Amino acid sequence: MTPPTPLIAGNWKMNGTGQALGEARAIAEAATAAGVRLALCPPATLVERMSRETAGSKLEIGGQDCHSEAAGAFTGDVSAEMLVEAGARLVILGHSERRAGHGESDATVAAKVSAALRVGLEPIICVGETRAEREEGRALAVVTRQIRGSLPAELSGKAFTVAYEPVWAIGTGLTPTLEDITEVHHAIRATLKDMFGAEGAAPAILYGGSVKPGNAAEILALPEVGGALVGGASLKAADFLAIVAGAPKA
Ligand code: 13P
Repeated sequence: MTPPTPLIAGNWKMNGTGQALGEARAIAEAATAAGVRLALCPPATLVERMSRETAGSKLEIGGQDCHSEAAGAFTGDVSAEMLVEAGARLVILGHSERRAGHGESDATVAAKVSAALRVGLEPIICVGETRAEREEGRALAVVTRQIRGSLPAELSGKAFTVAYEPVWAIGTGLTPTLEDITEVHHAIRATLKDMFGAEGAAPAILYGGSVKPGNAAEILALPEVGGALVGGASLKAADFLAIVAGAPKA
């Protein structure tokens, strides 16, 4: 099976108003020459405008979460159907800030993944251990459990991406050693193959957590790393494109 096309995705989290759309336009202009897939996941309020303003480019737009239901009495939530209508092609699901801050279980994440598939959104499913779990030697067990619980069987044969984001590396400037990233990515790949057979070789496995222009090239050069999920450094086109420049080309 051919290796997955690398994906570098920016997660703007709860950052960005209309003033920030210039950054997205600059990234969109560079997307054709990037040699990898590029995506930006802005807050829900910007998905439609960002999609419109970057239409015709190779930049893909995504949401940061979706509800499992298509519609209903769920105040504050956004459905997969709504994201698609706004122009999204991807959606981040199971981010640790949702798991920890909004009580999302593996089963909740799996239901959201099913919702994304229902409308043809490509899910980026996030997993990762806390600092305590790593210190207790449980990182591989936790990540493997999250993969098994958050990925429904119907993902088989569908386009999806997994992102390994150690909770303790997010927004802290800390990153795991290259050996530790490799070890976890190996475990994720083995679990995907166990769950989906040969098709488990297809999804890209991204690394996320304090990816910056200064460390991206060495992380992205790891054979097991199929791209990056970038938080803070995706808010400025210059930083994001410096990360992209360090990626091996597909
Ligand atoms: P930072 O790159 O800001 O550490 O955030 C990573 C992240 O959570 C991306 O989803």
